[in-house]
Amino acid sequence: MSRRRRVYEGKAKVLYEGPEPGTLVQHFKDDTTAFDATKRAIIEGKGVLNNRISEFIFTKLNEIGVPTHFIRALNMREQLIREVEIIPVEVVVRNVAAGSLSKKLGIDEGTVLPRSIIEFYYKNDELHDPMVSEEHITAFGWATPQEIDDMMALALRINDFLTGLFLGIGIRLVDFKVEFGRLYEGEMVRVVLADEISPDCCRLWDTRTNDKLDKDRFRRDMGGLVEAYQEVARRLGVLVDTEPKRRGPTLVK
Ligand code: TMP
Ligand code: ASP
Repeated sequence: MSRRRRVYEGKAKVLYEGPEPGTLVQHFKDDTTAFDATKRAIIEGKGVLNNRISEFIFTKLNEIGVPTHFIRALNMREQLIREVEIIPVEVVVRNVAAGSLSKKLGIDEGTVLPRSIIEFYYKNDELHDPMVSEEHITAFGWATPQEIDDMMALALRINDFLTGLFLGIGIRLVDFKVEFGRLYEGEMVRVVLADEISPDCCRLWDTRTNDKLDKDRFRRDMGGLVEAYQEVARRLGVLVDTEPKRRGPTLVK
């Protein structure tokens, strides 16, 4: 047995070298963080649920022609992905006021926005992911104007698709965050969806009860995070009960 090479470790995921050049294995941990990792916990089972949910959503997006880094599922916690160069810009799409938008602009949580709003944040924990404009992004060379256009167009398609997908299972997609990467293919480079889409990076409210089915349960100390993620997975039809227990020797009578 040899040890896999760890390429990158983030707050909620680890990337390992993949089986072929240009591929990586994306491993979902149970680590849960908020507010730039000043608040942390390990919530057992979260990684498995996020892996399943994200895998399901990325597969659907691939099917409708949204290019993504996802190749295929590997196991309960891991997926095979294409290696991309992550664009250091987090793209947030909002349909309903909540979170930092409500706080900053004094708009009541739950107010339906006149139209979907896209925001950009510079991906940098030390600076607390500051909100930035297209001007900052192009001036500092984080992405080109063409890449910004591509990210915005893809983010809106993802929003349309996910809004419908979730509405069909009684969930309101309030907002979400996505990340994109550059995929190099010979002479060509294109922008593809990367990272994950899971209740860690979306706000999902039950349409009937307004119950929160996302990471706000952790941010706001509400408890019941795994149960909420399980509910999302169950409604999407991808619920996995538990990770198979690693079996030790069995006592034979
Ligand atoms: P916000 O209201 O805190 O700005 O969050 C907007 C959306 O982005 C929400 O669905 C949570 C998600 N998000 C992340 O995934 N990672 C982050 O670091 C932040 C701040 C938000
Ligand atoms: N993911 C970010 C962190 O760990 C913040 C958040 O999602 O609230 O710090």
